[in-house]
Amino acid sequence: MKTGELVRLRALERDDVARMHGWFNDPEITRFLGYSFPFSVDAEMQWYDNLQDPKKRDKVLGIVDRETGTHIGNVGLHNIDWVSAHAEVGITIGDKRYWSRGYGSDAMDVILSYAFSKMNLHRVYLRVYDFNLRAIRSYEKCGFVREGVQRDDYYCDGAYHDTVIMGILREEYLNTGT
Ligand SMILES: CC(C)(COP(=O)(O)OP(=O)(O)OC[C@H]1O[C@@H](n2cnc3c(N)ncnc32)[C@H](O)[C@@H]1OP(=O)(O)O)[C@@H](O)C(=O)NCCC(=O)NCCS
Repeated sequence: MKTGELVRLRALERDDVARMHGWFNDPEITRFLGYSFPFSVDAEMQWYDNLQDPKKRDKVLGIVDRETGTHIGNVGLHNIDWVSAHAEVGITIGDKRYWSRGYGSDAMDVILSYAFSKMNLHRVYLRVYDFNLRAIRSYEKCGFVREGVQRDDYYCDGAYHDTVIMGILREEYLNTGT
């Protein structure tokens, strides 16, 4: 798979599950993902096992720091629709030391390149909570535009928040020259 400037993407392995269990039980991370309840290791393992089913319409890859080889997060395409040629992308940099250093945008660029050039998708979209300004900025850098909003969609920390839908079309991505 194509590598970015900072990261490469690789298949997730069973050994990664314990690390991911830490990320997806960290409230500083899960508030951005909409997970309201903790996950057990068993649940995480079951999620991993389900992913191995080739018929599944979700493909999730590990994000690795090219310099150190450290697994720092995951990025995936979900609900892949082969007729309308679209998919929803989700990303988490689970190692918080890597936040705001360009790794997330680089990983997103790699998966977009794969989605449009290799998988021949037409549109990739995502959902992001309105208070997640770092994520929104990162997605804008990658060429996503705001498509719509689901009002008061998410209750977190005592208040309702909007979910913003962002998307990018294949020709828009290819025209950026990345
Ligand atoms: C969202 C996420 C993938 C972005 O990856 P990242 O590596 O942190 O982001 P990048 O460094 O590539 O880009 C972030 C941009 O936002 C900016 N930024 C950081 N905090 C910000 C804030 N509070 N307000 C506005 N912009 C902010 C950064 O300066 C950077 O922009 P710049 O390059 O123009 O300076 C990562 O932070 C993450 O996984 N967060 C936790 C889980 C999550 O939110 N997942 C996404 C759910 S939709």
